Amino acid sequence: MQDAQPGILAPIPRHARYLTFGLKQGVRPEAALRALAAIADGESCVVGLGAVLLFALQKRIEGLRPFPHHKRPGVDVPSTPAALWCWLRGEERGDIVLRTREIEKILAPAFETSGVIDAFKHGSGRDLTGYEDGTENPKGKKAVEAAIVNDKRAGFGGSSFAAVQQWVHDLDKFAALPRKKQDDTIGRRKSDNKELGSAPPSAHVKRTAQESFSPEAFVLRRSMPWADATRAGLVFVAFGRSLDAFEAQLKRMVGAEDGTADALFSLTRPVTGVYLWCPPVKKGRIDLRAIGL
Ligand code: HEM
Repeated sequence: MQDAQPGILAPIPRHARYLTFGLKQGVRPEAALRALAAIADGESCVVGLGAVLLFALQKRIEGLRPFPHHKRPGVDVPSTPAALWCWLRGEERGDIVLRTREIEKILAPAFETSGVIDAFKHGSGRDLTGYEDGTENPKGKKAVEAAIVNDKRAGFGGSSFAAVQQWVHDLDKFAALPRKKQDDTIGRRKSDNKELGSAPPSAHVKRTAQESFSPEAFVLRRSMPWADATRAGLVFVAFGRSLDAFEAQLKRMVGAEDGTADALFSLTRPVTGVYLWCPPVKKGRIDLRAIGL
């Protein structure tokens, strides 16, 4: 897919930073957004627009909606709207710090930073619990089909929808579980990543098995571990040609269908949740034609 932001389809980088922005009161965001689009390549900086921003611009992107809030016993999934999201990707942390400063300066007239999360690749691509993450991601053409909008409309074809959540792990609690209980939480064996047919229905991969949905619910996950001085977890990121597949998975994880919540909730909890629309690229820059910019 030529027009998609290349960072979406590429493997996760060694280092990353997630920047989230809100809107400043009483300022039109068009000029700052255009300036960002002119320097962002979609590879070292993947850009996503939130419903808050589109509302301020009085534009609509078909399929973008507010993130669903779920509250059930033992499960709290918040919805935390944002105007703009940048996923800075790279092999070198210093570059990412310097690029953050550049982007914040460009956006400063109209946007304020509301979140900064530093993330990294752990080993071969593992969550901090030690489990391999991304195994069942669609690959090649199937990844494009799952993640990228196939549409003839200029500025819309090549775009993608993203679901982003910051999860905070209780790593002490998880480490205290016997290995069998840990494996049953995920539904895979940590030692060799083998899927466990005998895992309970609450096992994460049983809840989210992509072929088990009707229609099948494939997404392209690009999650990365994060940590600050005191906390750590996973920034879950799923790209889709629409938000439907993610939403169906989440609904099953919270137990809205059968009352069984995903066992993951016993080890980790989401503290943010936002949907974004990631425009395509044109000549190596973010293409904002779909919203008339
Ligand atoms: C902290 C939160 C999460 C952690 C640690 C986590 C971890 C994992 C791990 C270790 C796997 C197995 C290997 C793989 O196929 O990637 C997996 C699979 C998967 N996860 Fe998650 N996950 C989290 C949140 C989510 C959320 C919020 C969703 C979607 C709502 C999700 C959707 C999936 C899907 C679709 C699969 C593949 C299932 C299949 O088709 O076999 N995950 N996850």
